[in-house]
Amino acid sequence: MIKIICVCGARPNFMKIAPIMRAFNDSGQFETLLVHTGQHYDKKMSHLFFEELKIPQPDINLEVGSGSHAVQTAEVMKRFEPVVQDFQPDYVLVVGDVNSTIACGLVAVKLGVQLIHVEAGLRSFDKDMPEEINRILTDRISDLLFVTEQSGIDNLSNEGVENDRIHFVGNVMIDTLLSNKKKADESTILADMGLDKKGYAVITLHRPSNVDNMDNLEKIISAFEVIEKDLKLIFPIHPRTRKNIENSSLNQRFSAMKNLVLLEPVGYLDFLNLTGNAALVMTDSGGIQEETTILGVPCMTLRENTERPVTLTDGTNRLVHIDTDDILKHFSEIKTSGYQGQGGVPRFWDGNAAQRIVDVLLSVKGNN
Ligand code: UD1
Ligand code: UDP
Repeated sequence: MIKIICVCGARPNFMKIAPIMRAFNDSGQFETLLVHTGQHYDKKMSHLFFEELKIPQPDINLEVGSGSHAVQTAEVMKRFEPVVQDFQPDYVLVVGDVNSTIACGLVAVKLGVQLIHVEAGLRSFDKDMPEEINRILTDRISDLLFVTEQSGIDNLSNEGVENDRIHFVGNVMIDTLLSNKKKADESTILADMGLDKKGYAVITLHRPSNVDNMDNLEKIISAFEVIEKDLKLIFPIHPRTRKNIENSSLNQRFSAMKNLVLLEPVGYLDFLNLTGNAALVMTDSGGIQEETTILGVPCMTLRENTERPVTLTDGTNRLVHIDTDDILKHFSEIKTSGYQGQGGVPRFWDGNAAQRIVDVLLSVKGNN
């Protein structure tokens, strides 16, 4: 048996850990301990996904909650260390790029436990993003690096990571999308909200550079005020963003938009149905850039860079400057094209990434 602690903590981690837990379980070769750090804790940011995605209930919830970067990272480390000491795993597996990822990674390697990073090698080359720091540091200390796209291999090679530690396995988030698409098609959210297919746009925003910076948020809202004349705007709002807007003078402008509907964060199946049927998605999310590529829906990423360049070259994604005119220019192009999302399927985004991870781990074990 391979003893492995799997870590999750924030919303995008749950879609990534779900197929990995299933593949470990199906193989019968792994003894797993699922640790939720508690970085995200609202029902709609956490528990809901365990039910919907049939993720086993976490064996341990560290319940760290919110805090500054230092406080949150330190709390995860303090609470995770005894868990590792107690379970004595062969590996700790972390996914993505959130504070829980680097915190648990550091604990593992300092205890001499091998570290696995799923979604390694992505780089925005923008150190103002907390996630970029988390990615660089996690990759630097990982023993096995599982990569979603070619740029990940190139970045890691450029940073001097040995080839035999890098494995191009594809995208576990897309495993989750493909295995849940049929169920998502049965969601009644469009009918419940009175929406027509392709008659609306979906918005998500939560990057500090967009939602903690009121100048940038103002530029984005100014574009939404124009776009809402063409399309209904459906905005499931992240708690960080809601708090910021409520405490700002922009609140009134949000309320004044008659064609903008603010929702609580929605469940995965409803969200997939909403995005899959949207004319357009406007987002600063990492994962949603990937999902819209597979769904064939045009995606305007409201950021200056992306760590997922394959979604630009092979998918439906485009980068849009945080500038009202640029947002409107891209919107107008997409509108003129009839809201067509043109793109293909990146290599290995085929639903089998988690199985490839299992295969690599079993072959590493066989060689030892
Ligand atoms: C975190 C990740 C980000 C990821 C995002 C996914 C880091 C540094 N950031 O950002 O990479 O894209 O999750 O959604 O790890 N809050 C709640 N309820 C919750 C969770 C958060 O109200 O369940 C509020 C709190 O006010 C908190 C704020 O949101 O202070 C930010 O939460 P935090 O986990 O620090 O960062 P995110 O912005 O969610
Ligand atoms: N998502 C969801 N409900 C929402 C918004 C997003 O289920 O209201 C899903 C989305 O489909 C994707 C993941 O959450 O699978 C992306 O998480 P998020 O944007 O919070 O984080 P990021 O990918 O930017 O790190």
